[in-house]
Amino acid sequence: MSEAVLLVGGRGTRLRPLTVTTPKPMLPTAGVPFLAHVLARARAAGIEHVVLATSYRPEVFSEHFGAGAGFGLAIDYVAETEALGTAGGIRNVSGLLTSGPDDPVVVLNGDVLSGHDIARQIAAHRAAGADATLHLTEVDDARPFGSCPTDASGRITAFLEKSPVPVSNLVNAGCYVLARRVIDAIPAGRPVSVERETFPALLAAGALVLGHVDDAYWLDIGTPAAYVRASADLVRGMAPSPALPGPPGEALVLPGAQVAPDAVIDGGTTVAATACVGAGATVSGSVLMEGSRVDAGARLSRSVLGRGASVGAGTVLDGVVVGDGAHVGAGNELVSGARVWPDAILPDRSVRFSTDEAG
Ligand code: GDD
Ligand code: MG
Repeated sequence: MSEAVLLVGGRGTRLRPLTVTTPKPMLPTAGVPFLAHVLARARAAGIEHVVLATSYRPEVFSEHFGAGAGFGLAIDYVAETEALGTAGGIRNVSGLLTSGPDDPVVVLNGDVLSGHDIARQIAAHRAAGADATLHLTEVDDARPFGSCPTDASGRITAFLEKSPVPVSNLVNAGCYVLARRVIDAIPAGRPVSVERETFPALLAAGALVLGHVDDAYWLDIGTPAAYVRASADLVRGMAPSPALPGPPGEALVLPGAQVAPDAVIDGGTTVAATACVGAGATVSGSVLMEGSRVDAGARLSRSVLGRGASVGAGTVLDGVVVGDGAHVGAGNELVSGARVWPDAILPDRSVRFSTDEAG
């Protein structure tokens, strides 16, 4: 049986406050939890059994996905009592894997949206008889990632995690095919980093660690800007997903949402079933979660409204995260990077500025 381990235990600190209640892989993305897209893509690549390596808020995953039947998968869950790191998390689920020692097991970072061909990566791994085969993608700035230089045959020669001076713009894209025996060789019962310990040790031991370069759509959703972009790209069909709840288009307005006839919703915006958008408002490339509200004439771009969050009339938000239940009063303007904490209330603007209004 083809099986995969999903690493979903991170705390998602860069996505706070959205991740205070919801783990990063469970954030609503194009109308469904982000992980639903990853699971659907794994299923499409022939994976039948998935083990979720959880740590932070484990119950949120099992409550949603259950045993996996509704997703065409058998899903198991393992919760770490202390966070074991990426390799520690993989090792910790080993007892639930059924693969033989030389069989390939797929490992996926739970926060990566990728259009790459997983089945082709598995086939390349098998054909080469590799110990590990890593999907690599090219980025402009490799410093936030694992830099993976390769030789002429495609063999990875070094693994440099978050190096200030990366030697290659080919980076670890967060999808590994590992021979089962590689997983069982990871030390058990203590935190281990696959990036800082396991891969460098495999390379030092002369193991065959292959780079599988694929330049399909790829995005790590770890920051607010990346998360909102991933959602918009899914809605517009730029990132293909079998889990998209509707045809690709400029907007995903879920049944039940209340949107004024003259409101403009575009750029891949998702409007949840219980969200509402008032008259003359414009919402572009944004995520409006359950129970959120945009009042008349407000203008939102590349922003996220958490559950039950609201924005007053005429307010302008660009690149902003509004936490669950928070309210940004009428007439405010917040720009790139601003985060409004859950349940905070920003009052209506009471003073008029002479620079932006006549008189
Ligand atoms: N079970 C478990 N336990 N999962 C964990 C833990 C843990 O202690 N720590 C992190 N994870 C999960 C996260 O939930 C995420 O899905 C994945 O492991 C990677 O962690 P991130 O915190 O998102 O790492 P990153 O984005 O900084 O870097 C990683 O991904 C890059 C590609 O997106 C590294 O693998 C880099 O080498 C890689 O380039
Ligand atoms: Mg990440």
